[in-house]
Amino acid sequence: MGKQKTITSTIVNGHGKSSVAVIQFNTNSLTNETFNELNAVLSDIEGLQEMNDPSNKLEGVIFTSEKDKIFLAGADLFELSKIMEMGSPWREPLLRDVIGRGQSTFERIEKLNIPTVAAIHGMCLGGGLELALACDYRITSNDSKTKLGLPEVTLGILPAWGGTTRLPELLTLPNALTALLTGKLYAPKPALKVGLIDKIVHRENLVSTSLSIIRKETRLKRKPQRSFIPPFIVFNQAAKNVKKATNGNYPAPNKIIETVKECRSLARKDCFRREVDVFIELTNTPEMANLLRIFRLQEESKKLKFASIHTKPIKKAVVVGAGTMGAGIAQWISSRGVNVLLKDVNEDAVSAGLKKIGDLYVQGVRKHKFDRPAARDGLARVSTSIGNTPLHTSDLVIEAIVEKLDVKQKVLSQLEEKLSDDAIIATNTSALSIDDMASCLKRPERFVGIHFFNPVHQMKLVEIVRGSKTSDETVQRAVQFVQKIGKLPVVVKDSPGFVVNRVLLPYLVQAAGKLNDGFSAESIDKAMIGFGMPMGPFRLMDEIGLDVCYHVAKDLEARLKIKGDGIDVLKSILDDGHLGKKTGKGFYKYKNGKAVRNQATEDAAHVATLLVNTMVEESWKILDDGVVDDRKWIDFSMIMGTGWAPFRGGPCTHDTDPITSLTYQKL
Ligand SMILES: NC(=O)c1ccc[n+]([C@@H]2O[C@H](COP(=O)([O-])OP(=O)(O)OC[C@H]3O[C@@H](n4cnc5c(N)ncnc54)[C@H](O)[C@@H]3O)[C@@H](O)[C@H]2O)c1
Repeated sequence: MGKQKTITSTIVNGHGKSSVAVIQFNTNSLTNETFNELNAVLSDIEGLQEMNDPSNKLEGVIFTSEKDKIFLAGADLFELSKIMEMGSPWREPLLRDVIGRGQSTFERIEKLNIPTVAAIHGMCLGGGLELALACDYRITSNDSKTKLGLPEVTLGILPAWGGTTRLPELLTLPNALTALLTGKLYAPKPALKVGLIDKIVHRENLVSTSLSIIRKETRLKRKPQRSFIPPFIVFNQAAKNVKKATNGNYPAPNKIIETVKECRSLARKDCFRREVDVFIELTNTPEMANLLRIFRLQEESKKLKFASIHTKPIKKAVVVGAGTMGAGIAQWISSRGVNVLLKDVNEDAVSAGLKKIGDLYVQGVRKHKFDRPAARDGLARVSTSIGNTPLHTSDLVIEAIVEKLDVKQKVLSQLEEKLSDDAIIATNTSALSIDDMASCLKRPERFVGIHFFNPVHQMKLVEIVRGSKTSDETVQRAVQFVQKIGKLPVVVKDSPGFVVNRVLLPYLVQAAGKLNDGFSAESIDKAMIGFGMPMGPFRLMDEIGLDVCYHVAKDLEARLKIKGDGIDVLKSILDDGHLGKKTGKGFYKYKNGKAVRNQATEDAAHVATLLVNTMVEESWKILDDGVVDDRKWIDFSMIMGTGWAPFRGGPCTHDTDPITSLTYQKL
């Protein structure tokens, strides 16, 4: 049997009206193969146009996809990774070929002398959107799966298949720069508002509406996209925003600004040439190599298979504890099609949890994460209980109650009695020992840590913690469950703090101790942000809650030999009744949810070096202790679980002077 093609093209006969070619993708990304097939189809279309035979006359072309969730997710990044692995003398000509092929294919689409419509349902990203930008019209389904964007900047590159040139021609300069510099994804309504698309229809009407646009039965009124702000002000503001967001740590955004600016006075062909040159320049940076590696690790985590065992899917789950984490977990998994029973000790706790879940759904609708019916269905999957509800039909229980070993042991053994023999029991503990908890269970092989991070709806990482008695089947089932709900699993061995908290806590405690040496929270936070962390250690502790930090630090103190007097600093603030942001005061005071900060006066760069080294050292110890089987998972966990400076590649990759240099991460 021949290999299935990645695109099919059909002619929709006009029956008296004009005929239209429908090019349908059956691929997630634009591979080499897809480009070959697409170019062959374009040759056929161009051939028909040249023949000028009225019986074979084509009036337009529609690009669409067979896939349920993806229109086109962009370039084939695995192909790009392979090229990146080659030495630079080989790499550059190959990269130039790949970029040249994309640009010329999309130019062929743009130059067809008949109307072209991209009829988009699902993700339309990077190269997918660049193809759509080469069409005359873009219409989308009104589905929550439909999102459009150019996320290249998040990989340390720029859209070089014409996207950097075409987007500012379509949108206002401020909107184009926002899209290019943030890589943000647009749901249909915001996309229509900025002029990225021309119309939103029901999915089933995509092709018929495209046909009627081509046949001029539907006239689209494109609103003129005008900005009255002079371009030099827009560029200056964009540069300021980039500096604020990146601290000058990422080369791609500034290069994008520079390219868009230059292209304003260049001929189109020179703009495309500039796109290629800048792309090549950026692929030679360690930042790009590190960001591409993180992308690949995400893909690896999505496909991770711990054991080749067929496991039963999780359809019904119980979450015990309706607090910060329990409510967050229940909301997330219900939104992914799993029925959830949320349990707590009293009505007030359950109601507070349910309110939080409702708020998260409302917020999700506002941010176009789901549409209203999907949110309603998700909420309907959550039921609550404070009583002795039977649990024997549940496949999974996730315990998310207070971080106290004796309380957890008691609750877990009571739960075990009510569950069927093949259900798995999980704990969301931050750092307690899985083996200690399992010691009170009759079936420790079915017990595992499923450690979500806070806030659950934003943090993609989940540590799957394997105790010494946890069976392969249980780990595999947990991995599969986490993948099914759209999170990224990493399997870690039971050990103090697992990976993320083990690296994080000694760092936080050491930072707190530095206050006794006369440094201010502001100066240390500033230095760590300069290093590339999303927030400094003091803001982070305030955010987590000083009580939570203190309890986890106390638990890990003896086991990890945490150095310094930071735990006492935490305790003294707690003794004054301040728990961080949630009580309006911690290391900082909070006004309307925002930290009130003084000017950072001292230079704390060497403190930052010390703090980073603490994390680096702990990371290598984790590897020595066999908590994970490869250092890549430590890098991955810290970046995905804490936002650890992604462009530096992670604590095991970054092993030179953290402030002044970058380590080149060979792929
Ligand atoms: N807060 C975080 O940032 C975070 C992050 C990751 C993991 N965790 C872990 O998740 C767990 C929960 O943390 P949290 O921050 O959600 O705590 P929380 O204090 O917000 O919520 C705990 C909930 O558990 C309930 N509870 C207590 N005993 C119970 C019992 N016997 N049966 C049912 N419910 C009971 C409480 O009423 C409360 O509603 C802890 O193990 C914590 O270490 C917390």
